[in-house]
Amino acid sequence: MEIEGGGGGGRDIEEGGGGSNDGLANNESSCSINSNVVRKGAYLVWQDLSVLLPSFGKGPTRRLLNGLNGFAQPGRIMAIMGPSGSGKSTLLDSLAGRLSGNLVMTGNVMINGKKRKLSYGGVAYVTQEDIFLGTLTIRETIKYSAQLRLPNNITKDEANDIIENTMMEMGLLDCADNIIGNWHFRGVSGGEKKRLSIALEILTQPQLLFLDEPTSGLDSASAFFATQVLKNVAYGGKTVIASIHQPSSEVFTLFDDLILLSGGETIYYGEAKMAVEFFADSGFPCPLRRNPSDHFLRCTNSDFDQVNATLMGSSGAIDIGKSNGLLTTTEIKQKLIQKYRCSKYAATVRNGLQEILSMGSEEGYEAENRGSKAGWIRQFSTLTRRSSINMSRDFGYYWLRIVVYIIVSVCVGTVFYNVGTDYNAILARGACGGFISGFMAFMSIGGFPCFIEEMKIFYKERLNGHYGVGVFILANFVSSLPFLIFMAFSSSAITYFTAKFRPGVFHFLYAALDLLISISVVESSMMVVASLVPNFLMGLIVGAGFIGIMMATAGFFRPLPELPKVFWRYPISYINYMAWGLQGAFKNDMIGLEFEPLQAGDPKLKGEYIIKNILGFSLDHSKWWDLAVVLAISICYRLLFYVVLKLREKVLPVVRTLYAKQTLHHLSKRPSFRKTPSFSIPFSSKRHQVIHSLSSQEGLNSPIHSS
Ligand SMILES: Nc1ncnc2c1ncn2[C@@H]1O[C@H](COP(=O)(O)OP(=O)(O)OP(=O)(O)O)[C@@H](O)[C@H]1O
Ligand SMILES: [Mg+2]
Repeated sequence: MEIEGGGGGGRDIEEGGGGSNDGLANNESSCSINSNVVRKGAYLVWQDLSVLLPSFGKGPTRRLLNGLNGFAQPGRIMAIMGPSGSGKSTLLDSLAGRLSGNLVMTGNVMINGKKRKLSYGGVAYVTQEDIFLGTLTIRETIKYSAQLRLPNNITKDEANDIIENTMMEMGLLDCADNIIGNWHFRGVSGGEKKRLSIALEILTQPQLLFLDEPTSGLDSASAFFATQVLKNVAYGGKTVIASIHQPSSEVFTLFDDLILLSGGETIYYGEAKMAVEFFADSGFPCPLRRNPSDHFLRCTNSDFDQVNATLMGSSGAIDIGKSNGLLTTTEIKQKLIQKYRCSKYAATVRNGLQEILSMGSEEGYEAENRGSKAGWIRQFSTLTRRSSINMSRDFGYYWLRIVVYIIVSVCVGTVFYNVGTDYNAILARGACGGFISGFMAFMSIGGFPCFIEEMKIFYKERLNGHYGVGVFILANFVSSLPFLIFMAFSSSAITYFTAKFRPGVFHFLYAALDLLISISVVESSMMVVASLVPNFLMGLIVGAGFIGIMMATAGFFRPLPELPKVFWRYPISYINYMAWGLQGAFKNDMIGLEFEPLQAGDPKLKGEYIIKNILGFSLDHSKWWDLAVVLAISICYRLLFYVVLKLREKVLPVVRTLYAKQTLHHLSKRPSFRKTPSFSIPFSSKRHQVIHSLSSQEGLNSPIHSS
């Protein structure tokens, strides 16, 4: 048995056979595999798949999925159904290698018989949550996504055709030019967002497509057409698996295969159209004129047993029910689980699994399916354009900060107006320099919430393999540069010329560059924080704390030579961008100036003397050296950001697998940890099958029928 930790890591999957049938399987039974067909596509197999939620001493370990077996084939569309909380998303996440870190997965998942990493491009996954750049229109979102992923050799016209056809298929043409909407303006509807999510993933016709509740929030007609599109994708030789909530009977008939889950157990796995027969065989026939999927959920959702018992207890109905031998949903569910385990459907799955595993493995799947097929230069230019548009349209990203910077600069400029060179101006110039290097750069933290939103898009697209980490970082930097330049130069111009600092165009340019690079360092450091603490409030607190420490050790509040040698002087003050930025700014302003002495008649005070003896900065190196160090620190933070993102991808899966092994080892020592929960209800043979009336299936559990 293979073990795996949850999270974004890849699968660690057992060797076996594989292949596919180029979409020819649609007319075959899900469990009859024709090994003579030419195989192309993705055969996904999962064996004895369990997902555990370790409790570490606080009660029993929860099994979110319990020993599931199954497979999905190219050319067929599979539905995962079940009550809320039954484990549909957990199953999809396990198959896609995206379980969250606190869960432990055991069992095997194979694709074409091989262990493969399915995260970062191995599978296209439409998640339950719709995440987009809210400032773009639907057409722009699809266009940029297409440019990021379609092969370079596709012409512009061909790409446009793909984009327009996809929008038409998903019924998005009418709202194509509407803005999606974000925190400050309302955009397209929830259903339109859902259809956009699907459109983005079917754009490139991936071999393996997972969708978590693609029809939630859609009206029945939209749900039907959206599912029809997915069915067509499947019939094009792709493997499509979708979890689905309460499909209409028309939508239900579109599915080829069905997994019905309840409490992490398989209630039914097989052809969707045979599920009604299975329920009838098990003694719970679907009433005439009832939507089969409604019936399945009514028989398997035991979440409300207690509520119903209480309601009926108070009306006395529960005693009547017991005396009539009526069943609770928990009992119905357990009966169905037992029935399924001994049914021909479970046997067919086992045979089908063996057949798939005995096939020879297909070469080339990996190369075909690593997400994007576009070159990195095209990805870089597309991402840069997309990010620039987002930054320019989102008022909160840079514009608001630019306005605040200008207002604060006007205030600072007027407070220190015409600062001069008398004795008191020494302190004033020092304070003004400290304020600009410290607080003005610190204000850049305000872009953090928007950056967190952009990171969410990055994580989603990265997991689906749309582009790489390096391209994202570079594109983000290039698109933000014009805004940073405008912000730094406008603020510097206002303060510099109002306060009348050291005259000379090069002195002004130095001051503006110093502020620009300092702001860039703050932005880069906030990116590192965002990659480690991806929560907006916690990230802001951590970021503010970090910059606070930088301020305290920059040499303004306490001269650098007076800082405690251990830790604060060496190394903190040396790796503190603000310390270098501040001394560069002082040197730029004061070297060459002469200040009035405290006592009239004393010799004038030279700027060099003040920097060295009053402010405590070294004059051994030039101001350009200080600027170069700030630039180097900014580059280091960007590299650190890259390393953190890469480590998340490479190291985290390994750590999680180790955690999973450790946890499982720990759990196996517990007597309470058993593989399969035992059911007290004995299995009854089909010959002696009792057909339960509709009232026995739902009467006791439904207050509607209790009177
Ligand atoms: N990371 C997790 N940590 C703790 N519990 C979890 C985690 N993920 C899922 N669960 C629990 O596992 C159960 C199954 O969750 P899952 O999200 O798979 O249900 P679902 O069938 O997709 O439900 P819905 O239809 O509401 O989306 C739920 O009880 C949920 O609370
Ligand atoms: Mg779910």
